[in-house]
Amino acid sequence: MRVEVKGVSPEQAEADVLAVPFAGENGLIGAAATLDASLDGLLASLAADGELRHELGHTSLVHVDGKLKSRRVAAVGIGKPENVSTDTLRTAAAAVARRSGEFAASIAWVIDDSLPLSANEQARALVEGTLLGAYDPARWKHDDENRSKLETLVLCGEADGLEEAAGRALRIAEWTNRARDLVNSPANEATPEQLAARASEIASSSEHLTAEALGPDEITEQGMGAFAAVAKASHNPPRLIVMRYEPPSPTKPELVLGLVGKAITFDTGGLSLKPALHMEDMKGDMAGGAAVIEATGAIADLGLPIRVLTVAAACENMPGGHAYRPGDILTAANGKTIEVTNTDAEGRLVLADALWYAREQGATHILDLATLTGAMEVALGDLYAGIFANEDDWRDQVVAAGEASGDHAWPFPMHPRYRRYVDSVFADLKNSSDLRQAGAVLAAEFLQEFAGKGPWAHADIAGPAFFERSRGDYLTQRGGTGYGVRLIVELATRLSSSE
Ligand code: BES
Ligand code: MN
Ligand code: ZN
Repeated sequence: MRVEVKGVSPEQAEADVLAVPFAGENGLIGAAATLDASLDGLLASLAADGELRHELGHTSLVHVDGKLKSRRVAAVGIGKPENVSTDTLRTAAAAVARRSGEFAASIAWVIDDSLPLSANEQARALVEGTLLGAYDPARWKHDDENRSKLETLVLCGEADGLEEAAGRALRIAEWTNRARDLVNSPANEATPEQLAARASEIASSSEHLTAEALGPDEITEQGMGAFAAVAKASHNPPRLIVMRYEPPSPTKPELVLGLVGKAITFDTGGLSLKPALHMEDMKGDMAGGAAVIEATGAIADLGLPIRVLTVAAACENMPGGHAYRPGDILTAANGKTIEVTNTDAEGRLVLADALWYAREQGATHILDLATLTGAMEVALGDLYAGIFANEDDWRDQVVAAGEASGDHAWPFPMHPRYRRYVDSVFADLKNSSDLRQAGAVLAAEFLQEFAGKGPWAHADIAGPAFFERSRGDYLTQRGGTGYGVRLIVELATRLSSSE
């Protein structure tokens, strides 16, 4: 999609659809009211009839032949003006994109000065909402009637930096949709080797970015007994995908942001087999890996002055004759021994070695992303990721970046007293507890044992990374959401700004 910023009045904007936000209960306000003067009160009379409604996302298409340069107006409800947030505008933009995308090639959106958001904030939200809302997961469908015809988004407004804000939002949204493409790809296509090939493809497009991948022998040579065990039963060999972004003049040369992702390309549960119902969704168990890989591409694309080391542990968790078993005792790369009590708690095993590797390779500040526990999804649903960390300040920075980016994140506690629930009689640790309590916290406590020295934060993205169904906002599609790409780019932007 193309995004253009034009300092023209809505009346002068030329597009198939002119979109204007419709807020308030009594009459028209803001940009809609101004526009309505050129429409001889048409919108006001439709509102009085109840045809235009202010409920968030309610979209009415009105033909205005001749009166404006655009043929149609889409008046889209944004609720009460005082409640308008960036999520509101994303949702409104997605509603217009989905409604108009059936026939329109261009939408012009009116930036509304009466809203409690700056023009740049509005631009960012409208671009994201349009791109993420128009995303179509049906790549494998032959006759896909939902494929959007949208080609151009015009933003009508004027402000310092508006063009830059819109262009940046466009690139970030495109990288987010690329992560969704990876997550939606089935496990017979998105194998560990394919993920590694994708990382190489991204690296080849940026001169400061490199990618490599360790195969099964190197993984074993490095002593990564936990990762190797999970990968053992699959005929698709594992890859430890490593990307390095070294910009010419980083603002903080001593800081290396470590991005670690869980990339289980399919999670059957292994010998602790999962039930059949919804098991197909476990193709999305590589969403953390997809997010860190595509976000690294975004950081390089935007040229952010920050050093980044990205590590994605990619393998399949399968049952079979070579499978690791409950009771097996593994030795991780940092030397700690782990009793396997459930082969379906595989994410923390692959992350244990990936975290160690990131630290070993020089990461100073680590953030890992993982669809780690069903318990996290039960706790927070599809909206928020839970953030755990070994340092409050680092955790708060991650949470703040998430909230600012649209990838909602909420702090969760860690405490030494939880640690005893992952004590093993036989080994240093066990990988799951039979207590049906605090499942997401125990997973984080386990990971902390492998996070090494320095700030580390863990995002359990099991809820917001992959949807069983629409969330009812701007993410209306089943499947991958690209969660994490926007959060990571925001975090990297903040870390690299010379404050
Ligand atoms: N990938 C799953 C977690 C998951 C479940 C993500 C549902 C998204 C939706 C993870 O590997 C897993 O199976 N976790 C187990 C851990 C348990 C055995 C301690 C779980 O949450 O049940
Ligand atoms: Mn599992
Ligand atoms: Zn898993």
